[in-house]
Amino acid sequence: MNDTYGFIIGLRALRDYQDRPLKDEDLDAILEIARWTGSSKNKQDWSFVILTGPDQLEAIAQAGDFTDPVRASAATVVVVQEPGGNEFDSGRVAQNMMLAAASIGVASCPITLHREEVARRTLGLPDDRRARYAVAFGYPTENAAPRKFGGRKPMSDVVHHGGY
Ligand SMILES: Cc1cc2nc3c(=O)[nH]c(=O)nc-3n(C[C@H](O)[C@H](O)[C@H](O)COP(=O)(O)O)c2cc1C
Repeated sequence: MNDTYGFIIGLRALRDYQDRPLKDEDLDAILEIARWTGSSKNKQDWSFVILTGPDQLEAIAQAGDFTDPVRASAATVVVVQEPGGNEFDSGRVAQNMMLAAASIGVASCPITLHREEVARRTLGLPDDRRARYAVAFGYPTENAAPRKFGGRKPMSDVVHHGGY
């Protein structure tokens, strides 16, 4: 296989970050990839809220159940689903940001905001927008490692040919 294939298959959620901000050019590079992600009918019904600093990060961390990576992050990007948007597009944009980040040495972890009303209030979102997912970013610590239970189901469990 080639290097790109190895890079994609090797992407892991990392949750331990150095205590330093993201460089502007790194954050910009991640957001530029987000902007260029393909979406259904190219509608781009998304926007991105960048949160940094302990106060903003703690406030949005309150919206989810497994948000320690947000607290540890240098920046967390909330993916806002604009009217007409859908979760498939949000997933694509989140994964693209994670891949872009990894390519420039930035670790990341997807985050679920289980309490959407808390997220809505925290961000000042209008009622017709949703904020269900975010991605935490930061430069990985030396010992940043994926969770040990992070294997995958065998191919035979997940692939069906010609019908379910
Ligand atoms: C939609 C989605 C939501 C996730 N939410 C969280 C979360 O709230 N907190 C967290 O620590 N990890 C979260 N994760 C990360 C998963 O736990 C991780 O992708 C999975 O365990 C596989 O880990 P690996 O890619 O490092 O092998 C989420 C992942 C996805 C795809």
